[in-house]
Amino acid sequence: MTELAEFGECTRTLHAGATSAKLLKTPGPVVQRGSTVLMPTAEALYDATQTTYGRGGLATHKALCETLSELEHAERTFIYPSGLAAITGVLQALTGAGDHILVSDAAYNPTRRFLDGTLARFGVRATYYDPTATAEEIAALIEPETRLIYMESPASLTFEMQDIPAIAAMARARNLITVVDNTWAAGVLFKPLDHGVDVSIQALTKYVCGHSDVFMGSAAASGRVVERLARSSYEIGWAVSPDDAYLALRGLRTLHSRLTHHGASALKVAQWLQDQPEVASVLCPALPSFAGHDLWRRDFTGLCGLFGAILKPVDRSRVDAMVESLQLFGLGYSWGGFESLALPCDPQLVPRLASGRLDGPLLRLHIGLEGADDLIADLRRGLDSLTA
Ligand SMILES: Cc1ncc(COP(=O)(O)O)c(C=O)c1O
Repeated sequence: MTELAEFGECTRTLHAGATSAKLLKTPGPVVQRGSTVLMPTAEALYDATQTTYGRGGLATHKALCETLSELEHAERTFIYPSGLAAITGVLQALTGAGDHILVSDAAYNPTRRFLDGTLARFGVRATYYDPTATAEEIAALIEPETRLIYMESPASLTFEMQDIPAIAAMARARNLITVVDNTWAAGVLFKPLDHGVDVSIQALTKYVCGHSDVFMGSAAASGRVVERLARSSYEIGWAVSPDDAYLALRGLRTLHSRLTHHGASALKVAQWLQDQPEVASVLCPALPSFAGHDLWRRDFTGLCGLFGAILKPVDRSRVDAMVESLQLFGLGYSWGGFESLALPCDPQLVPRLASGRLDGPLLRLHIGLEGADDLIADLRRGLDSLTA
């Protein structure tokens, strides 16, 4: 205060309180907001080894990225303003005009929209492979221009499992980059980088943030791709609010406990569902009856709350009425929050090639943190309404 006494009130109002006293220690990091970073010397303004502008990430972002790197066993983690931005950012960073990439036919639909739209306009071609293809079958699709193999396992909506270690090894032997959308595993249940994958992407919007109220994405990487991801983030200008970064970090602190609960309830509901007469099959990797079960058991340490169920053939209007009648399951996109959701999915399968053909309507369930028995009772009432 005394240093400012010689200035007018307007100047004193601008500069008082600007230099923080030593911060008290709290369990969470500070939420550091700032576009301008005040540098100690004129020389430091042009020192490329320092953060000279807030977009490069301040204290809260650094705390989040370090924690995500710890979780994903990564050298570095980059954050983006949504899960989709992480996907598009990584694909843009790692490909260029004339390149060809191989993509699971059962990847998250907006990934495909980006590939067939923006990336195609920039001269990158995509070929979609069957989501159950083996490493050898994918290798047979490699062209001289192929640069990258994009995986998602379990797949979006239909949950096919891929042999990621085998595909990553095959790709490395051919100097191809591999990228996995690891959102289902939340960085916890599967560690792509330990299996030779170059980049593990997550929509942090789902389990990491965990409360259906924040958008964010991450790309965890090691080795040959790190520099390119860093350069591209710098050039494109991805930035995340420090308040959102704080919320993501707060979500990470309870991630393992929440996932344990989601997984246990999901298994109970999935086991119950497969015995219901209205259900043709349950698409849940933890069920021995599921085609990808052996790969899941070999590579994953657990289950999250997301799985699918194929109903016995019934009119779409009946399925719509069923999901509208559920009391505890909300009707909406996304997943990974504390709450349960039910989603009829058939319209989303339309862009797919072979993997889009199913014997009955597909329902995707997100099992939240409610009591599993309450959820089962709600689903039973809903199934009753299918044939009422
Ligand atoms: C598997 C998967 N990846 C990525 C995303 C995109 O995340 P966001 O909604 O944060 O853009 C989603 C969203 O539903 C998803 O399900």
